[in-house]
Amino acid sequence: MTEQDDEFTESQTSSMRVVRLCSVSDVPDGEARRFDVGDERIAVVHLDGEWYAIGDECSHADYSLAEGEVDDLDCALECRKHGSLFSLKTGEPLTLPATKAVPVYELEVGESEVGVRLRSVAPGSAAEPKGASDV
Ligand code: FES
Repeated sequence: MTEQDDEFTESQTSSMRVVRLCSVSDVPDGEARRFDVGDERIAVVHLDGEWYAIGDECSHADYSLAEGEVDDLDCALECRKHGSLFSLKTGEPLTLPATKAVPVYELEVGESEVGVRLRSVAPGSAAEPKGASDV
């Protein structure tokens, strides 16, 4: 996670780009929200002033982690379906039944906006994100 005083910088390198997800006010402290960027499902969590992003799809079954409770003691997100806790720092499951990690994303957080760093893809390719704006 990267936090800055100003808005994050619009950027794109040959391998990474920042995609705007939401306004800071869209995710209240202690809550999670799901954002879809192309084929990527991302659960964004705002916890005690910090921001985290992990894959939204539970690795145990296809269930949205953003629908679960934020666990502030373990800095984790609980899958609402069967209760696995996923670390917001590593994506690793902390409890069964899930045994595989979910991806962890790097965020860019400005005063009012939140963006995510994603791998760049060639324009027009099947993997190009849809539904989110490049920043
Ligand atoms: S679907 Fe998430 S723990 Fe089973």
